[in-house]
Amino acid sequence: MSIEIPAGLTELLQGYTVEVLRQQPPDLLDFAVRYFTRLRDAAGPGSFRPQARGVNFDGEPEQNESNGEQDGEDSDSDFEPPVINRYSRRVSVCAEAFNPDEDDEDTEPRVVHPKTDEQRCRLQEACKDILIFKNLDQEQLSQVLDAMFERRVETQEHVIDQGDDGDNFYVIERGLYDILVQRDGPSRCVGRYDNHGSFGELALMYNTPRAATIVATTEGSLWGLDRVTFRRIILKNNARKRKMFENFVESVPVLKSLELSERMKIVDVIGEKIYKDGDRIIAQGDLADCFYIVESGEVKIMMKSKTKTSQESNQEVEIARCKRGQYFGELALVTNKPRAASAYAVGDVKCLVMDVQAFERLLGPCMDIMKRNITHYEEQLVALFGSSMDLRDPGK
Ligand code: CMP
Ligand code: CMP
Repeated sequence: MSIEIPAGLTELLQGYTVEVLRQQPPDLLDFAVRYFTRLRDAAGPGSFRPQARGVNFDGEPEQNESNGEQDGEDSDSDFEPPVINRYSRRVSVCAEAFNPDEDDEDTEPRVVHPKTDEQRCRLQEACKDILIFKNLDQEQLSQVLDAMFERRVETQEHVIDQGDDGDNFYVIERGLYDILVQRDGPSRCVGRYDNHGSFGELALMYNTPRAATIVATTEGSLWGLDRVTFRRIILKNNARKRKMFENFVESVPVLKSLELSERMKIVDVIGEKIYKDGDRIIAQGDLADCFYIVESGEVKIMMKSKTKTSQESNQEVEIARCKRGQYFGELALVTNKPRAASAYAVGDVKCLVMDVQAFERLLGPCMDIMKRNITHYEEQLVALFGSSMDLRDPGK
């Protein structure tokens, strides 16, 4: 297993070590708290850049040999924090320095866009299935909803352009939007949002340029969330999610072929959904937009077989059970077909859920395992129903 060392970690720890050696503090932990607090305060939350200058323990910049000396009168005014521009782009997407305990909630003014009751209803409806909002507490969610603003878009309008800096995150209320990605050559349409979902989280989460262009192909309506509120609330929540789900995600067999940093990106975009006994999680024949991993409880996969007589074909037959760490709902995403079977909760169930765009973006390295498993499904169906069933997309 290879572990990616986040960009900046070595420099961060080296800076601290040098100060320890210089100052010889009696209490290393207490010294660390004060050192990193000063560093954070100087740099601004979540904005440490490795190649920038360090700070000495008095909260002042280290003397920069190539830059000459400080004037000594007002060291603060001369001080260049490690990162000045919070929009600075970072190289590594897993290196985001964010400590949930460093809550700048009370120092940043809260953004509130007043809304009519009718707007609030539409907004709540659009946001109810947004996965990265799923683990927010009530207070966080209401701050997010307060800060969101409505944006109407015209056909062919570019909502986001690849390469730009990230300003807002968007939740779709309605409209179709193409996802275009350009990599060595002309840009290619890699997917589409169809009247629901969200986009624009990557640049805000990881301080990277926009990774895709999003173009409205119909007239539509979006709800935007500004970068500052997004980072204050969603990143804080992501740090909590990483703590909650890291061990579990590490143990999921299908994700073993991913790098650690890739698994953490999964944690950043998943949402946890809870089901009660008998709830239908997936309905056979529906169009698919999500992938599921069972976190706790058991999920029963049931199928109405087309190969039986018409009378029997309405009867659902149990074909599999998924337990903790197992996945389902991948087949329709891989084959571009409707759901091949239904899935029901057996007792209380918790699932981690990922949308199709994240599935395609992040689970490429697991695709071989999933495709191989289709053969296993087909064999299973032959054993159960006595005749073969083509589960594959002929184009794949
Ligand atoms: P961001 O990079 O901020 O802006 C473009 C958005 O497109 C990106 O966040 C994602 O939300 C979304 N997107 C959907 N599919 C992809 C993809 N395959 N690659 C990159 N971005 C994608
Ligand atoms: P999907 O077709 O998206 O939704 C139903 C899911 O049931 C399917 O993906 C698989 O994840 C799961 N499943 C489990 N066993 C089978 C099987 N034998 N045939 C088809 N789907 C199966």
